[in-house]
Amino acid sequence: MSEKMRTLTEPFKIKMVEPLKMTTEAYRKEALEKAGYNPFLLRSDDVFIDLLTDSGTGAMSDKQWSGIMLGDESYAGARSWVHLEKVVKDLTGMEFILPTHQGRAAERILYSILGGSDKTFISNTHFDTTRANIEYTGAQAIDIVCREAEDVEADSPFKGNIDLEKLVQIIEEKGAENIAAVVMTVTNNSSGGQPVSMENMKAVRKICDKYHVMMVIDGCRIAENSFFVQQREANFSDKSCKEIAQEMLNLGDAFVMSAKKDGMVNMGGLLTVKDEALSVKCKNLLIISEGFTTYGGLSGRDMEALAIGLVEVFDEDYLNYRIKSTTYLGQKLKEKGIPVVWPIGGHAVYIDAKKLYNQIPVDQYPGQALVIDLYIQGGIRSVEVGSVMFGKYDSAGKLIPAANELVRLAIPRRVYTQSHIDYVLDIFDDILEMKDQKKGYEITYEPEFLRHFTANFKPIK
Ligand code: F0G
Repeated sequence: MSEKMRTLTEPFKIKMVEPLKMTTEAYRKEALEKAGYNPFLLRSDDVFIDLLTDSGTGAMSDKQWSGIMLGDESYAGARSWVHLEKVVKDLTGMEFILPTHQGRAAERILYSILGGSDKTFISNTHFDTTRANIEYTGAQAIDIVCREAEDVEADSPFKGNIDLEKLVQIIEEKGAENIAAVVMTVTNNSSGGQPVSMENMKAVRKICDKYHVMMVIDGCRIAENSFFVQQREANFSDKSCKEIAQEMLNLGDAFVMSAKKDGMVNMGGLLTVKDEALSVKCKNLLIISEGFTTYGGLSGRDMEALAIGLVEVFDEDYLNYRIKSTTYLGQKLKEKGIPVVWPIGGHAVYIDAKKLYNQIPVDQYPGQALVIDLYIQGGIRSVEVGSVMFGKYDSAGKLIPAANELVRLAIPRRVYTQSHIDYVLDIFDDILEMKDQKKGYEITYEPEFLRHFTANFKPIK
């Protein structure tokens, strides 16, 4: 097709529909009040456009649904497992493949073996569950994302990269024998869904070889990352996204994947390793907690759908649409004057709520205020990634705020059409009109850990 700018169209048509409930502003106000002003506590029926997460919220294809019918539910050696194992071996180049029920199960198995109180893990950015599983073993998790990532608006192609200088420095300081692994998160979810370059990954591999440190790839969005490499990095434009993913995954000693993202399924995970002795230890834990080695926590039908999803996700037309549709939302928001993390990442758009609602102090949670307004105004569910999620208290009970006050709009795969996204953009016009009158929120209830999931709030008068 010609390079002319045309409407971004979905490379699929719709065979089955799921109705959305239309609600009024008054209805949503009441629903939100009942939910303690925390959209995590809303019923999904009361949400119109759900941008809470891209995890497990995607739509499966006709081929995947036929795979569901073909799933082999045998306890051991199921046909669906043989299919999945073949696809994953081909993708990762790794010999030992373990199925798990989702990403954090793979993390728990691997990091409880590698971790321990004398160990340190180093990452571009550990995702929350990754950090939690590491810290649970008593180990330390250090994030060293590259310097370019500090400026949320700076235009740079691979802001998900790790800081290589700091990596060497930490390994030398701690002693290589105390480093359990370097964990590369691609794309880097907690740092704006930004991609990691092949160059950076190869440099990490070299450093890991020099110091005999293990390299783990947390690659739940590996296909999306590969598209960015193909588009932005020199010498990759004539390679397919699958070839790029194969090359990148081959650099790792282990791969953990929440298949709920680029696996294109609603539930599932993978753990793959190159080393046989490590695989035996992992399999022991898998059997104790997840299930036998040929199903992990999955049904045969789940494995069948995942085997198909892992092939479909590398369709170049799909990836082109996927990344460009996320960019479309972010670019249009930016044009309206909404401050966004730039460039736009793969699976989500991140808004700088501190800048947008600059009259609301951080201890009154500007991100939460925006999340609430998006719901009341348009039935849109998003998530605060700021001081509600990451804030801590000092000994006097004063908030130690997070580095940024962001709001994430995560885009489920193959679920919403451009008109849904245009509707989201319309709601932001309303937000812009009202933003100066907006006030903050105070927390009325919070649990000890991971408070964002269940905290309650109250508007500040
Ligand atoms: N690693 C990364 C980079 C993730 O983004 C996630 C999940 C996990 C691991 C854990 O996988 O949920 O299957 O156990 N991210 C979701 C999100 C929850 O909304 O970003 P899981």
